[in-house]
Amino acid sequence: MKVLFLNGPNLNLLGTRQPEIYGRTTLADIERSVREKAAALKVEVEFRQSNWEGQLVDWLHEARGNFQGVVINAAAYTHTSVALRDAIAAIVLPVVEVHLSNIHAREEFRHRSLISAVCRGQIAGFGAASYILGLEAVVSLNGGA
Ligand code: DQA
Repeated sequence: MKVLFLNGPNLNLLGTRQPEIYGRTTLADIERSVREKAAALKVEVEFRQSNWEGQLVDWLHEARGNFQGVVINAAAYTHTSVALRDAIAAIVLPVVEVHLSNIHAREEFRHRSLISAVCRGQIAGFGAASYILGLEAVVSLNGGA
């Protein structure tokens, strides 16, 4: 099984970006822990980040036929992007939405996710562990590793 991890805008700055909200863990640290868990589950993972909405759309399209599921932290595009929502709806793959922070406990504009309704579920508020839980969710949606 191959699982694609997609990360949206500003997540490349994790570690130094608003550490009071996102902690000191970098995206490379998160990727390392995802890879460790994936190895234990005998699952292949690919880990990508872009600040560009269209790049994320292209990668979602590429997932079709090449991956068995997607874990996505769409970051700010979560709250704005009809294009990402439509891409997720189009690819008919299990997609799990993850967030480091609990978006429902933050500013009102973060409470609404445009992608939730087309994802299989949402995991928010567990820091880097949200990604591990996302991986486990995709594996479970595929009937196990
Ligand atoms: C985030 C939450 C979003 O509201 C925010 O724009 C992000 C990160 C999170 O992982 O907590 O960039 O997706």
